Amino acid sequence: MTDSSATALPTRASALAVAFDKELAVVRESRSAAAVDELRVGYLGRKGKVTALLEDLRHCTKEERPAAGRSINELKQHVEAAIQQLKSEAQEWELSNRLHAEPLDISLPVTASVPQGSLHPVTLIRRELLTEFRRLGFTVFDGPEVDYDFYNFSALNMPSDHPARDMQDTFYLREQEHLLLRTHTSNIQIHCMLNERPPLRVVAPGRVFRVDSDPTHTPMFHQIEAFVVDRGVTFAHMKGVIDAFMKAVFGSSMKTRLRPSFFPFVEPGAELDLQCVQCQGKGCRLCKQTGWLEVGGCGMIHPNVFEAVDYDSDIYSGFAFGFGIDRMAMLKYKLDDLRQLFEGNHSFLGHFPLFT
Ligand code: PHE
Repeated sequence: MTDSSATALPTRASALAVAFDKELAVVRESRSAAAVDELRVGYLGRKGKVTALLEDLRHCTKEERPAAGRSINELKQHVEAAIQQLKSEAQEWELSNRLHAEPLDISLPVTASVPQGSLHPVTLIRRELLTEFRRLGFTVFDGPEVDYDFYNFSALNMPSDHPARDMQDTFYLREQEHLLLRTHTSNIQIHCMLNERPPLRVVAPGRVFRVDSDPTHTPMFHQIEAFVVDRGVTFAHMKGVIDAFMKAVFGSSMKTRLRPSFFPFVEPGAELDLQCVQCQGKGCRLCKQTGWLEVGGCGMIHPNVFEAVDYDSDIYSGFAFGFGIDRMAMLKYKLDDLRQLFEGNHSFLGHFPLFT
């Protein structure tokens, strides 16, 4: 190597930078990851062009070396940074090349080996019930499953010393004595009335919890609550709505029956019975020969409840009824053990037709 070629090192470095930039543009155009690698080897590899310049440094004189070294280093950094950048771009080229090479036909049918999902029977029934409630002009309202004692009990005319609390074996939260898992969907009456003004026509489905477990009771189950508040609402309206609703769900021959009963948050209150779906009222094992099945409770909203939410009970009246959604599923699908619904067994859960 002559002195002159060593002197020319800074010039050669800047010429190489120009050449590199041109090749870089071509590689970027090609969108090929292999070309990126070729470029890297061609400049930074053992026999690469930048490497060759670095080797020529040793032919420089002591005086020339600092300037030559600096120019080659700058070139090297420029090339390294550009290749790094290209590498990350190349990952995206790969992805989009693959997407274009193998277009995904999302209209193809799923192969038979993939098990198909289905809706849970409780979901099917809940949807069906809500559809009927919407037809009757009800609005769906949602609320908390972990709630304050106030909404679940006190405001529903069950003060803390009220014996009726014992009717519902409650899950309390250990650290927070005023918090509990709601025992019924009636808590939604309070949440709703505190936030809205009459007229109200509301339906609230959801999970509820009680310390209870046997073939017809699970610690978690589903209820649906419906209530109406307006001027001049009477017990006759309630009976009419319940009857129309059950006929819409079970067919026009369905009969309903109300039996006097007690719930602290209604007065008068009643137990709500359906004619037995198995024997149509003749008497069988399911209905214990009575011809009727108990499905829920109902009644006229108690004045003390209106007082708790600051509604004037001289102006407004209302009714409420609530029943178990799972119980409805049992009747519809003739299940003998309610717990089957919540065991998560696919071969059992996959067999339910739409509730029509
Ligand atoms: N919340 C009551 C229960 O779970 C049912 C009910 C609802 C009774 C509305 C009257 C009015 O037992």
